Amino acid sequence: MSFKPTTDSFIRRPINTADPGRVYDNVRAEGDILWSSSMRIWLVLSKSAATEALRNRDLHTFNLSNLYNRLARQTEYQLEALAHLATFLPIVQEGERHKKLRSLFGRFLADNQDAYLSAYAQSSRELLDTLKENGGGDFATEYADRIHSDAIGRICDIAPERRAWMAQKTFAEGILGVDMHLSSVQNATIRVRELFSHYDEVLRSSAENDILANMGQHFEAAGMPADHDSKASFLTALTVLGGDTTAGTLSLGLGRLLDAFEGRISAQQWPDQKNLVEEFLRLSAAIQTVYRVANKPTMIADQNIAKGETVLINLSAANRDPTAYECPHQFNENHQAGIQFGTGRHFCSGMTLTRKAVAISLEHLSEFSEIVAREGRSFSEDRIATKYSKFPITLE
Ligand code: HEM
Repeated sequence: MSFKPTTDSFIRRPINTADPGRVYDNVRAEGDILWSSSMRIWLVLSKSAATEALRNRDLHTFNLSNLYNRLARQTEYQLEALAHLATFLPIVQEGERHKKLRSLFGRFLADNQDAYLSAYAQSSRELLDTLKENGGGDFATEYADRIHSDAIGRICDIAPERRAWMAQKTFAEGILGVDMHLSSVQNATIRVRELFSHYDEVLRSSAENDILANMGQHFEAAGMPADHDSKASFLTALTVLGGDTTAGTLSLGLGRLLDAFEGRISAQQWPDQKNLVEEFLRLSAAIQTVYRVANKPTMIADQNIAKGETVLINLSAANRDPTAYECPHQFNENHQAGIQFGTGRHFCSGMTLTRKAVAISLEHLSEFSEIVAREGRSFSEDRIATKYSKFPITLE
């Protein structure tokens, strides 16, 4: 497999556009699974190879705890808060620990799905009402970034001003990723400590809250010690994992819709609800790529992967694979579902909940007589979840 200039520059830079289809087409012209010899990284672009890679047991997730511990040794920064949080992120765990965490997240989310969705709908209405009263505002920071932590905060009986504060702490930059800058890791440590202390206090002061009171049972059923620190870390992990993912998906999706309608969409133009959520997610989900490292020599799509090599699986490109989708860049209700939530043993624990939550947001947005894009949209620099950091709109 030879050096491919487009592949290398593609891997180096995040794709900051609401509609990256053409960029993927250019790279795909070099192949469906590509090797960058300068970076020793495999890039997987087709849906079948991405599915195969995600289901391959010899490919492991990135060991974030090792990275934090190494950074802490090299720099003498106090990164214990991040290292502790990493032990509650199933997305960076393997083996027994992963199984237990998956069971914990699965049980908690299934048990509290109705409460979360009802809180999410209330939050969505309130945030959109405020935007409308102001004639519009920043959809990114005043809606998309806030909705998940607001819903989690509501089910934990957290007061509105503290929920607004939580939204500023939950973004994933410096917490998840493989090539994090030291400054963003330091910044993330402070945010994680603050969130952890906040949940610690919430757990102590909300004895009447059923959801918090029942958490211990979920820990026990998952075979994990139900101590106070573990509960606070679990709630922090839940808030962080759903934060930027939901925010990016909503803001990129609305951006894409508005671009398709030349910056102005009315209730009458809103696409049909049939398969709207699936296609919205296929084309606009926030996680572009997931990383894996070969734990032993293995194969993907007839390519030999050596032990230690990194495999970068581009879910967003896979979701626009022309061999899997008739008109990959376009909305089409007949398309099969995408792999934006991953597949295999790490597939998203929040998938069912998120599909329903996104449906609620889309329904609420479709009720406005008009949504207009204003000047000044900008992308966040984070490489894990793509999202708008600023997205001014007018709502009527
Ligand atoms: C549109 C929003 C979302 C997207 C696009 C998304 C996407 C993903 C993807 C691609 C993975 C797999 C990563 C991998 O294989 O390395 C994942 C894992 C995960 N997601 Fe989501 N997610 C979203 C929302 C949420 C929400 C709201 C929650 C929680 C409330 C959540 C919880 C999790 C958890 C716990 C995992 C780890 C599963 C494991 O490693 O076993 N996600 N998500």
